[in-house]
Amino acid sequence: MTKPKVIVTRKWPAPVEARLQDLYDVQLNEADVPMTVDALKAALQTADALLPTVTDAITADILGVTNKRAKIIGNFGVGYNNIDIDAAKREGLVVTNTPHVLTDCTADIAMLLLLMTARRASEGDRLVRNQQWTGWRPTHMLGRKVTGKTLGLIGFGRIAQAVARKAHHGFGMKILFTDPYPPSQEIIDGLQATLCATLEELLTEANFVSLHCPGGDATKHLINEQRLKLMRPSAHLINTARGDVVDSKALIRALKEGWIAGAGLDVYEGEPNIDPGFLELDNVALLPHLGSATEETRVAMGNRVLDNIAAFFVGHEPGDRVA
Ligand code: DGY
Repeated sequence: MTKPKVIVTRKWPAPVEARLQDLYDVQLNEADVPMTVDALKAALQTADALLPTVTDAITADILGVTNKRAKIIGNFGVGYNNIDIDAAKREGLVVTNTPHVLTDCTADIAMLLLLMTARRASEGDRLVRNQQWTGWRPTHMLGRKVTGKTLGLIGFGRIAQAVARKAHHGFGMKILFTDPYPPSQEIIDGLQATLCATLEELLTEANFVSLHCPGGDATKHLINEQRLKLMRPSAHLINTARGDVVDSKALIRALKEGWIAGAGLDVYEGEPNIDPGFLELDNVALLPHLGSATEETRVAMGNRVLDNIAAFFVGHEPGDRVA
């Protein structure tokens, strides 16, 4: 029996590539160079499955290419705002993502950024590396205490709940959240969390605000100048969700002019290009989209894609279908 043809847009962890080679007629991307629009269109015309990732913009133009052979797009990533889902539906393409397996590692990075910004870790690291540290003194590099403070979570899905568990059980933090679709009362009670009636209420109350909503048009610049001005001057903003949820220019002004105390960012508008305004600031901790970047998680994400396409190829509903 001929094996289905699958095309992978970027390099994947070796154990998953080995499984792909076993199971499919696979085209890997050893050079790990992003595929062009034309190459992505050709992939849809020549493969049964296209396996892109969160940095591949799978636009309506690409999805609308004529003479498509592909029937399924198995995205390597829980976020799928890189894919025009309406266009995929119009074209009759099944789309899947990789939820669950990156929840804890992404939540860990949110906690890391929270601690980094509160305790001025990046700034301290730079001081030591630049050989500018002159020694301990009672007033040197004072940050903000984390334990016992209030954490506001915008979006209360799986990753936010994992952050809440770590923050509440590990650091004794009080949890506030907003979400149009709150989880069960049992989950809320287990974290002693409080649903805020409005985003504005959460921003006013919280010492730390962490973003966990999806990206895309509905949440673009949700955190804008007006909302940043509602935050406390001692508060910190954490973003491990999507860059465009925050208006970067407004955040840079907030950090420069002291509307808020600091920020920790893992994602950026237009990444990997970063607004140079951030690079001049000491009160922002910057990471290169590391949320899910552990060996265990990236292998698990790849395996999740494989499970989804395997189900599809035997005529079952893939577990993580989003379109
Ligand atoms: C995702 O999966 O959406 C992350 O941004 C990368 O792991």
